[in-house]
Order: sequence, then structure tokens, then C-alpha cells
Amino acid sequence: MAKAYPGIILLCASVVTSPISAALKPTSVLKSQFLGPRSDADVGPSEVLQKSSPDLYREEDPTILRVTVTSSVHQLTLAVNHEKILDLRTTEHNITTNTVDFTPWDTTSGLYVMVLNPSNGRLMMKRVLMTQEFGSSLELPTVLQSITPGRILVMAIKNDASLNLSKKSREFLTEMGVSSAIDLQFRQSLAWVGTVGGRVWAEATIQERRVKGLGCQWSSPVTLEADVPRLMNDVSSCFNGGQEKERASFCDKYDGYGHLCSCENPAPLFYAAPKLENSQIEGVPLIIIASNRPTYLYRCLVSVLRQAGGTLDRIHVMVDGRHQEVVDLLQLLQVSYTEHDATGMSRATRISDHYRLSLSTAFSLFPKTSKVILLEEDLLAGQDFFSFFNQTAWLLDEDPTLWCVSAWNDLSSLHIAHDPGLLRRVETLPGLGWMVTREVAQELLSKWPSRDKEHDWDLWARSQDVMNGRECVVPDVGRTFHFGLSGTHSPGLLHVAFFAGRPVPALPYVELHNVHRLKMEEYEEDLIRRLEDDPLYLNTSLHPCHPLFIPRNATGGRPVLIFIDMRTFIDYIAWKVFARCLGLWDLDTRASHRGLYNFYFYDTEVFVIGYPFSDYSYLKLPWVNVLEVKNISSLKKFDYVAPSHRFRFRRPEVEEMVQFWDVPKPRFPTFDESQLIT
Ligand SMILES: *[C@@H]1O[C@H](CO)[C@@H](O)[C@H](O)[C@H]1NC(C)=O
Ligand SMILES: *[C@@H]1O[C@H](CO)[C@@H](O)[C@H](O)[C@H]1NC(C)=O
Ligand SMILES: *[C@@H]1O[C@H](CO)[C@@H](O)[C@H](O)[C@H]1NC(C)=O
Ligand SMILES: *[C@@H]1O[C@H](CO)[C@@H](O)[C@H](O)[C@H]1NC(C)=O
Ligand SMILES: *[C@@H]1O[C@H](CO)[C@@H](O)[C@H](O)[C@H]1NC(C)=O
Ligand SMILES: *[C@@H]1O[C@H](CO)[C@@H](O)[C@H](O)[C@H]1NC(C)=O
Repeated sequence: MAKAYPGIILLCASVVTSPISAALKPTSVLKSQFLGPRSDADVGPSEVLQKSSPDLYREEDPTILRVTVTSSVHQLTLAVNHEKILDLRTTEHNITTNTVDFTPWDTTSGLYVMVLNPSNGRLMMKRVLMTQEFGSSLELPTVLQSITPGRILVMAIKNDASLNLSKKSREFLTEMGVSSAIDLQFRQSLAWVGTVGGRVWAEATIQERRVKGLGCQWSSPVTLEADVPRLMNDVSSCFNGGQEKERASFCDKYDGYGHLCSCENPAPLFYAAPKLENSQIEGVPLIIIASNRPTYLYRCLVSVLRQAGGTLDRIHVMVDGRHQEVVDLLQLLQVSYTEHDATGMSRATRISDHYRLSLSTAFSLFPKTSKVILLEEDLLAGQDFFSFFNQTAWLLDEDPTLWCVSAWNDLSSLHIAHDPGLLRRVETLPGLGWMVTREVAQELLSKWPSRDKEHDWDLWARSQDVMNGRECVVPDVGRTFHFGLSGTHSPGLLHVAFFAGRPVPALPYVELHNVHRLKMEEYEEDLIRRLEDDPLYLNTSLHPCHPLFIPRNATGGRPVLIFIDMRTFIDYIAWKVFARCLGLWDLDTRASHRGLYNFYFYDTEVFVIGYPFSDYSYLKLPWVNVLEVKNISSLKKFDYVAPSHRFRFRRPEVEEMVQFWDVPKPRFPTFDESQLIT
């Protein structure tokens, strides 16, 4: 067990007299502990509950639900009518050694959102929003808006939820009736109980007085008790009769599905997806790769079910593990699925095994299909998702140098996405919504790394041994949106830097340009013609992070040619500086074609040639300089640049339409440009 002690907890001797917030209603009783934990052992089990005075507990009253919630550094508990339904701790008492072990505490920190059924008090949903981490507030509105009105909402902080809680999220919480949200301090405990769309029952928090120099680090734990009137019937009782009975039973158990469980405006259980006109992908299944994120899966499913081609007969969900809620959801929507347990030593190898099983199951379940489309549960499909694959499917049959069509473009962020009809070839496997043929899948399956070998399947699949010079077709503007923050590593940061600002066309049909020119020879012909047709050689001494490095619009339609240092396929040091400065994906070399990157920077078309690796290096003229990084140790400074992409590359006319606009503004230090590049 990991022993990760979060720091020294000092005794906070200050006695806070009135932690009761204005929102506190007379029906609730509030108790708080004023002393912080004195030693590790003090953080022990249910201290508050044991010490509470017994006279607070009345005889069971059938008309109320007594909700007891504790917020503290190392423990978060929730009880209904004295029955503990959640007990989350950082510490565990090890009987063998008689010591207190710490579990990875940072992964359990954050704002806990818990939903109770107002008629029986059962826990219907539990999510942790790690709003202490940069960017992780992004999901807060979506999660809170997905809860059904009339339900009991309990929120509590374990350790901290304020460090990176954005202003917009604070305002959102305030609107919901969390009165301490605006001023919530670092490591402040908070417990809150309310009815969604109704009244606030109680809120308790302690703002610790900070002792200067002593560094009082955490506020004291708070325990809140609220008596909430019990409803005879849950809100889901509005659904009755026929198919709706199944909805009633689903919605009585679970929450977090938005309109699926809304009485006023219920989402359909069946979507009569229109036929895809002149479909070339009849019988090609869509395999959704899922694990245990059912509310994500629901959103993903709806995005495909309501568009042309999204018929139930082609959709199959592959579920890793046994998860009742996932299965109940799929049965409610009558979506077919396979459950299985992937295996693997680590998380990455387990995911790999899940992909392997999904691919092989797909082709055996659909024995006649020549291709499959794969989509992960944390992606939303754009409205022309099937149409996009329909228009490009034949390329995979005709051109053996292509091995996938992907709906994702690694570079396509807000200021780069330019033309939804435009396609390119890239020497990588972008994934995130992609189509593959039976032959390629079989080849992959025959080489798949074994489960006991540590690996990342997508890194493996992108390796040159596997790709073997083949390419994928990608759109200039992606057709999937990655919205999943839970279940990934430093999700907020990655999202703010690379995923949050990606537009997806909101049109059910976009005619793709010159699909036949994506075949190898035709593509090469067109490319060479454009490269040789009087491009603008960029010979600037400006640093790539300088706002005027590439003109956004002043090239009169001529593409700009830039040379950067690149020695091998995987050499990306110069690309990293370049891409990071210009707000492009920079974690590795992706989206290139024979050492060439092609994209629009606002209205200027840009060709970046990796010199001398690229096959197009011959275009370099003697007087044109090559961007290189001389001093690798100075690269560290660029770590601060990625989170600022959204603020450096604005596009007001479209950004309001992009999801997750609530992106925190980071601060990043200035750096000495002259040190980096010659
Ligand atoms: C208790 O500690 C011992 C020695 O560090 C360790 O081997 C054992 O796994 C621990 N027990 C639990 C339940 O964590
Ligand atoms: C956000 O969180 C990071 C750690 O994830 C921390 O270093 C930083 O100080 C926090 N606050 C802001 C305003 O970025
Ligand atoms: C499907 O592809 C065919 C052939 O390219 C095309 O004629 C048809 O319009 C496409 N339909 C849609 C909805 O994309
Ligand atoms: C190209 O840039 C280099 C370095 O900034 C400079 O020395 C050279 O004069 C430039 N050439 C032209 C033709 O502008
Ligand atoms: C570029 O110029 C065109 C035509 O003048 C204009 O419509 C467009 O908005 C400009 N784009 C940018 C990013 O300034
Ligand atoms: C490289 O950069 C680092 C950090 O910016 C600096 O301390 C060091 O002196 C530089 N080395 C050279 C050879 O310029």
C-alpha cells in the first residue's frame, strides 16, 4: 500500500464560533468538530458519529430522511437514518503492523456529488469532481445539470475542492444554493444538502483562521445533519404503463441521465434513425467500447442513435467488466451488448485486452461485414458521423496503403479547424472514432502484444512496425468530441490544453471534397503541385511563440512553408516547441505525412516540413532558415504554455458554440525567447 502522507497537519486551535451558513434551515441540526486531527491515529474511523451525543437521535420518523454527511481531509461519510452508505477514507488501519497506511489520497480528493432517492434514501449516483486540479471544473455544470429535479443532492468536500475551482463553477454552485461557494478557500471542509430544483436544507462549512507562519493547513472536519422530508413516491413514479414501466424502474435506481428521467420532457427510449441515403456502409457495425461510465455511455449513444444511419441493428456495446447500471441502461434502450472481463497486468494492458476482444468479437458477431467502426464511450459523435464514414469507406477497399479512416484529427483545435469538407492522409492511427477493414483487423489481432507484456495498445498500433508506412484518412475538422474527464490521468490539464476547444460540424451532411484524390498517387500529385506553386517561404527571426510568427490572414491565399529540424520519424523536439507555441497537439509526432504537417492557422494554410527527414525537404532554399532547438534543457519552460492555448487563439465567432467554454485562465511565466532558437 502506498504511504503518501499529504503533509503535516497542524492543530488548528482557533475555535470557529459560527460555521452555520445562511442557507441552513431550521429542520437541520448541525454539529461540527472544532479540533483538527492531532495525529495519524486521530483520523480513525467515524470519530464524529461515535462522539455525537445520543440525544440528537430521535426515534425513527417515517416522514423524514435524516442525512448525515461528514467532510474532512481524510474521511468522507454519508449516512441516511444512521445507516452508513458511504465511508471513504484515505487511511486504513493495518492490524499487522498497527500503523495507519495512506491510500493514494490525491485521487480521492475533490467535491463529491451524491444523489439520494427522496422516497427510500438509497444512493443513486456518486461522482467526484476533482476541482482542485487544473481544468477539472469543466465537467461540473454537465454533471449537476444531469441530476433529476426532486432528488436529494448531497455535496461534500474531501481534502480540497477549491484550488482550481473556476469562477464560473463557483457561480454555478452559488446559483444552486451553495452559499459558501464564492469564497471557498483552499482545504476548506464543506457539507451541503438540498433538493434539486427545490430548497436548500442545510449547509455547513468552516473557514479556518489562518495562523501566520504556523501554516494551518486544513480546516476542521464538519459533520452536517439534515432532516429532509421524505416523499411517498420517488419522482420516477411519473413514468407508468407499457415501456415506461422499465423507465420508471431504471430512473428509480439511478441518476445522472438528464432528460432520460425527466417527467416534464422525457428523452425518447427509441430513436427512429432516418436511413442513410445511398449508404455504402450497410451492415457495417458500430462497436462502442465501454467500461463503467454509464452516464458517459448514454450521451455517446444518444449522439449516434439520433442521426441518419444510427439504427439499433448496427450498434453493439462491448462492456469491460460486469456493471449492473451499464447493463440496465443498455437493456432499457434495447442496445445489444457483450460483457466480458478483460485482463491485463496494468490499466493500460487491460484496456488493450478490451480492444483486442472488441475487435475480434465485432467480426465474429457480424460475420458478413467487411469493416467495423469503433467509438469509445467518452466521445460524442458529430451529426454526420455515419455519413462521413459512408463517403470514405470505399477508399479502404481500393487503396492498400490506407488502413483506417478516422473521425478524429489530432491537430483540429478551434483556430486550426477550417473546412469540414477537407480530408488529409496522416501516418498515424488517430483512433477516437475510426473505421477499419476485416483484413487489417485480422492482421492486428495476429500480432497483438500478449497480456503479460506491459504495453499501450495505441502506442503499439502507431509504431512503425505495425503501421508499416500505411496511412489513415482524417478530416480537417474532427467528427468526434472527447468529453470524458473521469477515468483518465490529469484529465483537466489535457482537456484545457488539447480537447476542450474542438469544434465538430453541426450539420447532418457535409459533402467531402474530392474523396478520390485521397488515394496515394492522386494525393501526392495534388500535394506536390500545391507545394511547388509559389508558396510563401517563411524566413523570420521571430520566436514561434510570438503572436506575429505566422500571419493569420495576409498571405493572399498562398500557403506558408516552414522548415523545422527533424532527423527521424519520432524526432519531435523542434515540433514540440513549434506546435506548443501555435496551440497544436504536441505530445508526440502525430498527423504528419512523410514528415510534413499540413493545416490551416486561422485563414493561412501552413506546410511544416521536418528537415531533413521529410520527403519534401528538397523544397528548402539555401537562404531559408530551419527552426531548431539548440538547448533542450530550456524546453521545460514550455510546460506552462499549453494550458493557455484557448486564451491565445481566440475565435469569437465559433467559440461560444464549443462545449466546455469554462476554461480557467492560467498564468504562465515569461521566458527568454532568444535562448531557444537560432
Ligand atoms: C500491512 O503492512 C504489512 C507490512 O508493510 C503489509 O505487508 C500488509 O500488506 C499490510 N496489510 C494491509 C491489509 O494493507
Ligand atoms: C491548480 O492546480 C495546480 C495543480 O494541479 C496547482 O499547481 C495550481 O497552483 C492550482 N491553481 C491555479 C490557479 O492554477
Ligand atoms: C453515401 O455515399 C454515397 C457514395 O459516396 C453517396 O452517393 C451518398 O450521398 C452518401 N450518403 C450520405 C448520407 O453521406
Ligand atoms: C533569413 O533569416 C535569416 C535569420 O533570421 C537572415 O539572416 C537572412 O538574412 C534571412 N534571409 C532573407 C532572404 O530574408
Ligand atoms: C481574413 O480575411 C477575410 C477577407 O478579408 C475575412 O473574411 C476573414 O474574417 C479574415 N480572417 C481573419 C482570421 O482575420
Ligand atoms: C540551456 O538552458 C538552461 C536553462 O534555460 C540554461 O541554464 C543553460 O545555461 C543553457 N545552456 C546553454 C549551453 O546555453
